[in-house]
Amino acid sequence: MQRAVQYEETGSPSVLRLTDVAVPEPADGRVVVTVRAVGLNPFDGKVRAGLIPTKAAFPRGIGGDFSGVVSAVGTNAEYVDGTPVAIGDEVLGWAASTLREQLTVASTHLVRKPANVSFAVAGSLSTPGQTAAAALRTVPIGESDTVLVSSASGSVGFLTAQLALTAGARVIGTASLSNHERLRAAGIVPVTYGAGLAERLRAAAPEGISAVLDSAGRETIDAALALGVAPERINTIVDYAAVDEFGIRTPGQYERRADVLDDLVRRVSAGTLELPVQQEFALDDVVAAFTLMESRHLTGKVVVTP
Ligand SMILES: NC(=O)c1ccc[n+]([C@@H]2O[C@H](COP(=O)([O-])OP(=O)(O)OC[C@H]3O[C@@H](n4cnc5c(N)ncnc54)[C@H](OP(=O)(O)O)[C@@H]3O)[C@@H](O)[C@H]2O)c1
Repeated sequence: MQRAVQYEETGSPSVLRLTDVAVPEPADGRVVVTVRAVGLNPFDGKVRAGLIPTKAAFPRGIGGDFSGVVSAVGTNAEYVDGTPVAIGDEVLGWAASTLREQLTVASTHLVRKPANVSFAVAGSLSTPGQTAAAALRTVPIGESDTVLVSSASGSVGFLTAQLALTAGARVIGTASLSNHERLRAAGIVPVTYGAGLAERLRAAAPEGISAVLDSAGRETIDAALALGVAPERINTIVDYAAVDEFGIRTPGQYERRADVLDDLVRRVSAGTLELPVQQEFALDDVVAAFTLMESRHLTGKVVVTP
């Protein structure tokens, strides 16, 4: 048996329980991974709270990102580049219900973890990283752009801002004052969100804003439209009503891709992309971990290490 985090009813983090479940067997094209780290995402909390509907039966598992070590391999288990997965490989990826000691996953949802990337960072990268990459595919960014990234201190926003900087853009990022120095150090021009946002953005970008990559919602979109940003140059991952209302863009249910995750983790390994970790928690402390993650003002990922 192994321990897994499950819940029997929607609600606050206190509905989460540690339960003994069977250790999975590797099927064709799949592997078993001994989980070393799981980065928590707002999505996990919203599904658990019942804010995002799912038809999944109770008891439900939770968690979507992970890193770990391959402990068993099914037949035909290959990475997307066609090389075989081997027992002992250090990997990261995405799967359903990752908050457990051992999980089973399709080999095509895995990439190799570079030795100099920690399990905590690797186990946090898939959701925010792939979402950031999808934003830049939806609204391509180049050297001539001045880009507004909302919640640039958050996991998605910070990765998005860094990818936009790497693409050569000037990047303005919204955040609480306490996070401004951190953004400045990364090359992002910080601006406080809240009332008066459009005026502060006009002052920070007198040349005009040419693209917006949003993970905060309506306030950012309203400010961008007020400043004359073209709707097709505004991407949101949170305000789907604004997509229909204003004709702005969203990647929607974008496809997760191992080649994209591989590119992201190589950037982390090379030191050109950073995903900070705020705190690591043992599996026994999963309720405290979710409570912190849902406080909405983090300085990095909240990670559970089974
Ligand atoms: N559609 C998708 O595929 C997808 C994928 C991933 C995430 N998301 C969504 O994207 C959002 C961000 O996710 P995340 O993982 O980056 O979360 P996160 O790491 O918890 O970051 C949240 C950020 O929101 C900022 N914030 C808090 N209150 C705000 C406000 N009133 N206005 C503007 N910003 C505010 C915080 O900045 P300060 O601390 O500086 O105040 C914090 O940096 C979540 O709603 C998540 O569900 C969607």
